Amino acid sequence: MTKTPMTLEWKLPQLKTPLPGPEAQRIVKLDARYISPSYTRSYPLVAKRGRGAVIEDVDGNRFLDFAAGIAVVATGHCHPEVVEAVQKQAAELIHMSGTDFYYENMVTLAEKLEALAPGKFAKRVFYGNSGTEAIEAAMKLARYATGRKNFIAFHGCFHGRTYGALSLTASKTRQRDRFGPLVPGVYHAPYSYPYRCPLGAPPEKCGEACLNYLENVILKTTTSPEEVAAIVVEPIQGEGGYVVPPQAFLQGLERLCRQHGMLLIADEVQSGMGRTGKWWASEHAGITPDILCVAKGIASGLPLGVCIARADLMNWPPGAHASTFGGNPVAVAASLATIRLLEGGLIENARRLGEYIFAKLADWPRRHKLVGEVRGRGLMIGLELVKDKQTRERAPKERDAVVEAAFQRGLLLLGCGPNTLRMMPPLIVDQEQVDCALGLLEDALTQVEKST
Ligand SMILES: Cc1ncc(COP(=O)(O)O)c(C=O)c1O
Repeated sequence: MTKTPMTLEWKLPQLKTPLPGPEAQRIVKLDARYISPSYTRSYPLVAKRGRGAVIEDVDGNRFLDFAAGIAVVATGHCHPEVVEAVQKQAAELIHMSGTDFYYENMVTLAEKLEALAPGKFAKRVFYGNSGTEAIEAAMKLARYATGRKNFIAFHGCFHGRTYGALSLTASKTRQRDRFGPLVPGVYHAPYSYPYRCPLGAPPEKCGEACLNYLENVILKTTTSPEEVAAIVVEPIQGEGGYVVPPQAFLQGLERLCRQHGMLLIADEVQSGMGRTGKWWASEHAGITPDILCVAKGIASGLPLGVCIARADLMNWPPGAHASTFGGNPVAVAASLATIRLLEGGLIENARRLGEYIFAKLADWPRRHKLVGEVRGRGLMIGLELVKDKQTRERAPKERDAVVEAAFQRGLLLLGCGPNTLRMMPPLIVDQEQVDCALGLLEDALTQVEKST
């Protein structure tokens, strides 16, 4: 496995000031004056530098980063091989615009993505700059290729915030409020969530119940399948709460698609690029999407979002869709370096350490009164917090308090869904860092549990 040369000081958290420190306080105040207040900051981390799984703030405090820039820095912060690729590329050519000109590395990366994406068939790649752009491309392509206008998406899903993607997103009403009317033709179905089945079925029946509702209620009463261009699904829901549906649910969606000529679009913006211990979360269920959307971890922090589709589908004419910055040479160089590192051992590290973490967390629902369920795959780990194990009443305030208490101890986490904590460290993380993070989290959790 490729090693990051890491001095000891960049391995574990080290707090020098009370948090937030004086410089952080100064910048947070300016931020409130100048920056859009629509961002959601859970705590006042003002980042300055990063190495591996550690972030240093503007006051010299070091944090263990189990948020990874929202699951983006797959290879860790500033991996030397990614930095070298970026520097070399920046000195040679920063931009040329793939919309109007050719560039070899766009083809090299596309060839690589064709081989890595599920399905042994020819594929083509559209380059954008973000997850939401990958989704926009997928939606436009699905309508274009099928001549159909509707989409099926799921409650709890998050696909981005531009109008097409936002129309699919049904994670929190705040994200949609006052932005309507959205793109017409999107119908939301229940997403299988065995811990709290939206249809009230017991956990082992939840997948079947949700699939049945889609097939026999939505596709019989609301939109006929012949009008549906695509089903859009996150194989593991990210922002919605790190919800892992049963494999049979995802396989059932694929079956419905094949049966009715609907396309299957997998949004692997958060779950892809090795985070789950395999290249794609789709692989755990053995499903083969017609269109795969990837962003976040694909370039270790450089902006890149791709829509990878069956070559026979991505057959639209020149001018139909494009992006000035999409396929930017520096982002593509970072992506090629990222893929080399992932192949060189980081995905295996994610798998191995994921197993280690899940084994360590296995008895937390028994030992901790707030922990209702631990779930996820690889280094995509969610802890759902509840006030009561029997009623499963959600504990959103307690979740936020644990995230804040972890920050005060030097551990960066994020929430997802109304009441779930997520851990999504860089794939470069090692066992000592994992042990440290779990210790800090347990301490934070215990403190919140004592005060409730
Ligand atoms: C599954 C999923 N799809 C799409 C997006 C949107 O990505 P971006 O914020 O890069 O537009 C996100 C972002 O969190 C995501 O988690």
